Amino acid sequence: MTAPRPTLAAREAAAFGKVILLGEHAVVHGVPALAAGLPRALVLRARPLDDPRGPTELSIPAWDVRVQLAPGDDGAMHPVARAAAEVLALCDAPLAGLRIDGETTLPAGAGLGSSAALCVALARLALGPGAPAEEVVEASMAGERVFHGSPSGIDSEIAARGGVLRFVRGRPPEPIRPARPLPLVILPTGVPRRTADLVAHVGRFVRREPAVARPILEAIRGCVERGQAALEVGDHATLGRMFDACHGLLSALGVGHRRLDDLCAVARSAGALGAKLTGAGGGGCAIALAGDDPHRVAAAAATAGCTAIVTEIATA
Ligand code: MEV
Repeated sequence: MTAPRPTLAAREAAAFGKVILLGEHAVVHGVPALAAGLPRALVLRARPLDDPRGPTELSIPAWDVRVQLAPGDDGAMHPVARAAAEVLALCDAPLAGLRIDGETTLPAGAGLGSSAALCVALARLALGPGAPAEEVVEASMAGERVFHGSPSGIDSEIAARGGVLRFVRGRPPEPIRPARPLPLVILPTGVPRRTADLVAHVGRFVRREPAVARPILEAIRGCVERGQAALEVGDHATLGRMFDACHGLLSALGVGHRRLDDLCAVARSAGALGAKLTGAGGGGCAIALAGDDPHRVAAAAATAGCTAIVTEIATA
């Protein structure tokens, strides 16, 4: 008897990458955060394998990912395969008989939401283009937990919805409308790190030193509120100051890195209105809010050995 052909609800699905503008880490502890989507950052395409019982293959050459999803082989599986299997299982999608190929513009593990983009795009493949964002996010979180332990959910929300969002853990996100496009320069450090370790580090600090850590989290809340108001009226000078302040506060929480500090300083000297680490920190990427000339910031970063990405966050 021939096995039925495994099917997914869609042949192709995309997800956004992300930059956290303000509020990373503090968001894990209940503070609001602002994030912006990077469009069509990951596209997955699925087709059936010749052997419908063969283990599903997931290949994303830009991330050096080439894994097989072998159901029942949990412990031995590559984390990417485990996360993918969790997402597909939660969507009641087939775990065998597929070939899934990914194309991406995102660097992996650099704080730009690569894991959330993968989990969201997989959920969209399984659930189809008409699935509500809440369902896609919920399914993607099964994979995100494999990568990051207990993530706040901000990465999945922005990977699924794009735009600019205000996010508070446990609540539906609110879309934010910047008054003017936001010229951003992304500055990859090339320094690898693990989000789960950095989140755990901040968690320990908050538990052991609440008298010190809590005021830092509250000061980050102040940056988020002031930054959101500035974003909504197009006051980039104030938003830039909030970037700078937030970078210092995140460093005080212990998630800075010398290369992040150096690249932020280079960006500010080249005319950026502010610069900060984005995402989990400890390496990964910084973002600079460009003034009138993002390419001058990128050129300055190049002289410091950093290949910057110039992007613009749209108004709607
Ligand atoms: C990682 O992109 C953002 C963090 O705040 C972790 C989280 O919110 O789950 C560091």
